[in-house]
Amino acid sequence: MIIGGPSSQLLAGRVAAVLGEELALCEYRTFPDGESYTQVVASLEERVIIIQSTPTDQDLVYLLQLLDICQESSIDLVVPYFGYARQDKIFKPGEPMTARAVATALNPFLRRGKVHLVNIHAPSILSHFSCPADNLDATPLLADKVASLGLKDLVVISPDKGAVAMARTAASVLGADCDYLQKTRLSGTEVSMAPKEIDLRNRDVVIFDDMIATGGTMATAIEMLRAQGAARVYLAAVHPVLTGSAVLKLYRSGVEGILATDTLDRGVSTVSVAPIIAKALLKG
Ligand code: R5P
Repeated sequence: MIIGGPSSQLLAGRVAAVLGEELALCEYRTFPDGESYTQVVASLEERVIIIQSTPTDQDLVYLLQLLDICQESSIDLVVPYFGYARQDKIFKPGEPMTARAVATALNPFLRRGKVHLVNIHAPSILSHFSCPADNLDATPLLADKVASLGLKDLVVISPDKGAVAMARTAASVLGADCDYLQKTRLSGTEVSMAPKEIDLRNRDVVIFDDMIATGGTMATAIEMLRAQGAARVYLAAVHPVLTGSAVLKLYRSGVEGILATDTLDRGVSTVSVAPIIAKALLKG
């Protein structure tokens, strides 16, 4: 039985279709005081699969409610977009390691279960789960979508060293060159970003990253690459968080198109991670 949380309904439906499993009917509401209400309108089975991304605090509460409802079952928990993943370290004294705090809150429900995450920002987060936890890689799926665009003389770029592994995976699927952007501080307020090695003039470019949040990183990268003579610049990201006016920012910077997955259900989520989630669930 597949239980789709409110932020992962589309993906839960797609995973249920791939696996041919029942999709439970659930009800999600918010009380007038802002508290969340959840009901699973189905008899629970011995093994259940919960799919819920946690882009907001309320989504995290919905997830806790689903886990509480299913606590008698063995649970496979899929958190396609795991919020707080960028708070994976104590950066300043007195701060929490919120990614660890979230995993610790989920652990009591997962004694007989498993966790599946997708392109988690910091793989160290897996170690905070007390059950088996895996990190699924959606990069090849995004790369397949890029291949269908028919780009010319393509270069895959990582906006920083952190996404180099993703960029390399995508480049090998696409048979393309690969590089990362190096930041040079020009003054207290000015930073330039340029590819470490490759001259991009008149070449099509796809920038790969794990997520686009405010769009600031990508917008700066697009502007710099276009100023350096790149032809078309596309973005490919696993998690389209896209806060505020991120999409406007990216198009103002001159992006040709944005490709993202359905770990979060947005207008740009044209690549589904359902096949890799289904495969991981079948592995047991
Ligand atoms: C940073 O380490 C991440 O990989 C992303 O590059 C970053 O979180 C994107 O954030 P934003 O869209 O707000 O620049």
